Amino acid sequence: MDSITIQPAASARGEIIVPGDKSISHRSIMLGAIANGVTTVRGFLRGEDNMSTMHAFRDMGVEINDDGETVRITGRGLHGLKEPGNVLDCGNSGTTIRLITGLLSGQSFFSVVTGDQYLRKRPMKRVVDPLTRMGARIAGRGGGTLAPLAISGGPLQGIDYQSPVSSAQIKSSIMLAGLYAAGETTVTEPSLSRDHSERMFQLFGASLVRNASGVTVRGGVELAAREVSVPGDISSAAFFIVAALITPGSELLIKNVGVNPSRTGVIDILQAMGGDIRLLELRDVSGEPVADILVRYSSLKGIAISGTVVPRAIDEFPAICVAAARAEGVTTIRDAMELRVKETDRITAMADNLRKLGITVTETEDGMDIFGSERLLGGTVDSSGDHRIAMSMSVAALVASGPITVTDISCVSTSFPTFFQLLGKVAAK
Ligand code: S3P
Repeated sequence: MDSITIQPAASARGEIIVPGDKSISHRSIMLGAIANGVTTVRGFLRGEDNMSTMHAFRDMGVEINDDGETVRITGRGLHGLKEPGNVLDCGNSGTTIRLITGLLSGQSFFSVVTGDQYLRKRPMKRVVDPLTRMGARIAGRGGGTLAPLAISGGPLQGIDYQSPVSSAQIKSSIMLAGLYAAGETTVTEPSLSRDHSERMFQLFGASLVRNASGVTVRGGVELAAREVSVPGDISSAAFFIVAALITPGSELLIKNVGVNPSRTGVIDILQAMGGDIRLLELRDVSGEPVADILVRYSSLKGIAISGTVVPRAIDEFPAICVAAARAEGVTTIRDAMELRVKETDRITAMADNLRKLGITVTETEDGMDIFGSERLLGGTVDSSGDHRIAMSMSVAALVASGPITVTDISCVSTSFPTFFQLLGKVAAK
């Protein structure tokens, strides 16, 4: 099992570019594959999760060329995918398996989707139930609640689905099925989760209407290939934003980062904690807002985090926990039950790891209380096979009183293969 030992740093300084947005990269392949014409994607994230999506569509007869710069997807139209000859392996990627299950529900062929030991433990009932209501026949382990899932696609009927959780994976899975369904498919959610699907559906010419509580897709409308430029992933930038905020003397410019408001909860939270974070050169690229982010070392204060900001920052909580561990006072996190069903249980994993470094943490069912401290000890912590736990604990190491060893770090390549090189580049000795 790979591990890394990281030394404390004097500061985090410089100018960096983080790799492409994972959510947008997944969606560019999926919509490109079922559009008419050739879609070109620049800035595509070549992490393992996105490669799982790419392989799955190649397995369904889609020609996808990657010259290392641009990914070219020759779309097969709404009804041109072929029955895959084997099980589709989604690896560690929740977005791949849940979104693809929606898409496969509308195909006139049989398919099986599965993933690694972590993905096979994650809940699938949340997509299987609404897709079944639309007419899909899906069987799986645990009474159809766990992968592998076997999908007998066929004619679907539009539904009006009120999702009990704010989840872009649930919403997008149903929207993709909705492209194939008779009539209209509406999904509403308690508060807005990331809206990359809505934006990219519109870019590709889907018939889609949005309102305050949800989105409606009309089925049977062909999509047109597009040029997509993927901005840097704010979830990857978040580790460097926190690194600069907590390490004295830091100043970092992170260029070309996606700042879609449904993703910028992390910036709102860290600014509320006192973080000096500025968005510069705000612009629009392929229907998504993009900016350069300037971050300076700041003395942070603990705050209360709950409600609608939670889905807008859902992937950034491991990084936010590290900021909270260094803040003055207590940070409370609530309404974040979803963290328990991510790549690992991120509430327990972060609480255990921070305690190992001498931080007091109390777990609740839907969050935790983190008692910030000026002193973070060195030691050994474990990723639990979760990329974001591995990266946030590596950032914590910059300000610890001794080296921190993070074990089981190979998972980092699911979303950010160049993370450790970049961290080494900005961390001054
Ligand atoms: C994602 C949605 C979120 C997020 C995941 C990516 C997406 O999951 O945690 O990393 O691309 O749709 P949920 O929909 O389960 O919240």
